[in-house]
Amino acid sequence: MRIGMLTGGGDCPGLNAVIRAVVRKGVGQHGHTIVGYRHGWRGVIEGEFMELSLDAVRGLLPRGGTILGTSRTNPYKTDDGPRRVLATLARDRVDALIVIGGEDTLGVALKLDGDGVRVVGVPKTIDNDLSGTDFTFGFHTAVQIATDAIDRLHTTAESHDRVMVVEVMGRHAGWIATYSGMAGGADIILIPEEPFDIEEICDRLTHRHQRGAKFSIVVTAEGAMPKEATMEVQTSEIDDFGHVRLGGIGQRLADEIERRTGYEARMTSLGHVLRGGTPNAYDRVIATRFGIEAIDAAHAGDFGKMVALRGTDVVRIPIEEGVSQLKTVDGRLFETAAVFFG
Ligand code: F6P
Repeated sequence: MRIGMLTGGGDCPGLNAVIRAVVRKGVGQHGHTIVGYRHGWRGVIEGEFMELSLDAVRGLLPRGGTILGTSRTNPYKTDDGPRRVLATLARDRVDALIVIGGEDTLGVALKLDGDGVRVVGVPKTIDNDLSGTDFTFGFHTAVQIATDAIDRLHTTAESHDRVMVVEVMGRHAGWIATYSGMAGGADIILIPEEPFDIEEICDRLTHRHQRGAKFSIVVTAEGAMPKEATMEVQTSEIDDFGHVRLGGIGQRLADEIERRTGYEARMTSLGHVLRGGTPNAYDRVIATRFGIEAIDAAHAGDFGKMVALRGTDVVRIPIEEGVSQLKTVDGRLFETAAVFFG
């Protein structure tokens, strides 16, 4: 078979490990030809690909980013997009596509599956908000980077008697904020799933400082929102998939906390640092297992499926199950985190 592969959406550590695994087993053991489309769906629309030989994937396991490049292009929002995708696949004699992406990229894969394209999905996002899989690769690396940063912020917060607000990625779900906040011993964690009341946060911080604490750490997901009409937030531009570009809540919080409590506050936004660099050991293993399962599914003709982690097993589930709804932070997990607030 001639199998196409692409990486779409925001990058994350572990993408290259998936690519390597697909090629090592697909070419090395199954004897298929693998071609990689450049920059997500944009490369398929524009017909830009590179052949992925065994040599091309040498040394990729620890490398961050994606050698294929990525984009947030949505063929269904591009002039004549779906037809151009089908034309490229026919021209390149591609029998099947392995699509590595989050809800948007896999959402396109699902639509193309309905149009007769043979697809296998691999779930990717540092946000860990895809349903159907317990974890996506990249998430644990992002959590570790954020936790290391929170540890470092603790010491400088302590030296200066400051409130440190740390903003982490997490557009619709606060998995990174919850995990890194718990691991880093945050005094407050704010996530999109639980709209916050700024007055309540300031009361908690004041109470904590009255009991003798000299500094505090607040971890916020970029998508955290105040309860309606309690605090103004900024709006920004929207991408091809209808998502607002976020970032800014951390600074708003720091300003508001300083104004209301009188404690000096500073903000650190970890942003894309969480998506950069080498995957940790856990993500390398999951990414490798996902890649192998994906190429095995394609080899077996098991299309319309997404690979997923269930417990400790890697399984195949319908793509629809992965993209139909967002996996938000489990209420019981957040209750556990909240025991340590204030
Ligand atoms: O891929 C998801 C994500 O990491 C979100 O957490 C974040 O809001 C977004 O990507 C940022 O995207 P971009 O790289 O386009 O700025």
